[in-house]
Amino acid sequence: MKSRPRMLIVDDEQATRELLRADFEKQYAIRCAGSGEDALAVLEREGSEIVLLDISLPGISGMDVLREIQSRSEEPPTVIMITADPTVKSAVDALQNGAYDYLVKPFSMETLRTTLQRAGERMRLLHENRNLRRTIRSSRKFAGMLGSSGAMQQLKRDIEKVADTRGTVLLTGESGTGKELCARAIHEHSMRRSGPYVRINCAAIPESLLEAELFGHEKGAFTNAIARREGMFELAHGGTLLLDEVTEIDPSMQAKLLRVLQEREIMRIGGKHTIKVDVRVVATTNRDIKQMVRDGEFKEDLYYRLNVIPIHVPSLRERSEDVAMLALHFVERSCAENNRPIMEITGPAMKMLAKHPWPGNVRELENSLERSVILSEGDALTPEELRLEEEDAVRVTVTSPAQDDMTLRDMERELILRRLTLTGGNRTRAAEMLGISVRTLRNKINQYRTEGLTIPG
Ligand SMILES: Nc1ncnc2c1ncn2[C@@H]1O[C@H](COP(=O)(O)OP(=O)(O)OP(=O)(O)O)[C@@H](O)[C@H]1O
Ligand SMILES: [Mg+2]
Repeated sequence: MKSRPRMLIVDDEQATRELLRADFEKQYAIRCAGSGEDALAVLEREGSEIVLLDISLPGISGMDVLREIQSRSEEPPTVIMITADPTVKSAVDALQNGAYDYLVKPFSMETLRTTLQRAGERMRLLHENRNLRRTIRSSRKFAGMLGSSGAMQQLKRDIEKVADTRGTVLLTGESGTGKELCARAIHEHSMRRSGPYVRINCAAIPESLLEAELFGHEKGAFTNAIARREGMFELAHGGTLLLDEVTEIDPSMQAKLLRVLQEREIMRIGGKHTIKVDVRVVATTNRDIKQMVRDGEFKEDLYYRLNVIPIHVPSLRERSEDVAMLALHFVERSCAENNRPIMEITGPAMKMLAKHPWPGNVRELENSLERSVILSEGDALTPEELRLEEEDAVRVTVTSPAQDDMTLRDMERELILRRLTLTGGNRTRAAEMLGISVRTLRNKINQYRTEGLTIPG
């Protein structure tokens, strides 16, 4: 059975101390102190979860004791201040110095009981959150990858195992699951960690430029090649090269990439000889690459070359135990970035987060909490402030019925906008849901922009 929480009663009147002790000793392990000095000595010796602290005391005042308690410990007890002589200033002082609440004598036992109950709930929450924060700090070494679910532990073990090999890693998994973080963790756990880590997003670079980006070019190799430039493979020499969204490269580049992976040497565009490169390649995709091979969209040989070590990153739905830790981390970071004190997440809000399906995975959770932090006003996020329901509402309002005068193009545009709204503007995920390439989606978005439409995200 869990032991009773400890409560220290600090008051210079013995009668008050005894009265309080009699009332609460069933629920709490009680200690009493008649002065501030005694109180600090008891706390030093045995600690306490709760302190009822009278402000006017002989010797050092209750307010000084409060300050001392707050500065001594990283996890100070919950302090409830008590006074017979209330002033606005003392109340404000108490709360600013970290007291949980402020009661004016005489108060009913009922009032104190309610206050203690609320304090207890808050303490439980803080305790849970503190434990989670501790784990958050200890997982910095995995490129900041958080999560202690079975699936995440397995993933981290896999990363450690493969990090020091030279084998090409193919990271698969839905959009926003953390593939890029995994790639970085692989680099940081390898002997190559002091070497360069170079990332290229294959989906974001126009086809015509990708070859030069990857392999570099000699001076004068094409019209704009005014100087010689090294490509990503050369820049990553001795380190790791991340080919992000590798399935977005077109077939002719796929063939060139295959050759480089086989030969481990590159030739700059316009170059005359080959250059040996020592690069560990990690590739990611959020598409069904096997299906793409079957459909003839992705070269089978290249697939085998990349898929030497397959690692699948699970969706957030499959590891909802991790949501609490991730949520606290994102809230803490958003608060810091927005210059506000760290907010907690209330129990009901946390439950709601854990139940949510998160189609956009960790990225969606991250964006959603950032928005909640900015929009909320209290010191703890409530279910209402998460606004998860509202997202569902948006989903409904964009689902307007097809009108008689709608063209196929109108419907396409509406579907695209709807998917973009649903994914919070995540193009990779939206493209995946629409069954088109990110490149195609990007072209369409550019088209809509020129027509003056506002694009979600
Ligand atoms: N385990 C995790 N711990 C902390 N943050 C995470 C974790 N997983 C993902 N994130 C954060 O979520 C966001 C998305 O992660 P990342 O970019 O790695 O996803 P991805 O799988 O590469 O997505 P996409 O396929 O859309 O490129 C990033 O901001 C990342 O820092
Ligand atoms: Mg990515």
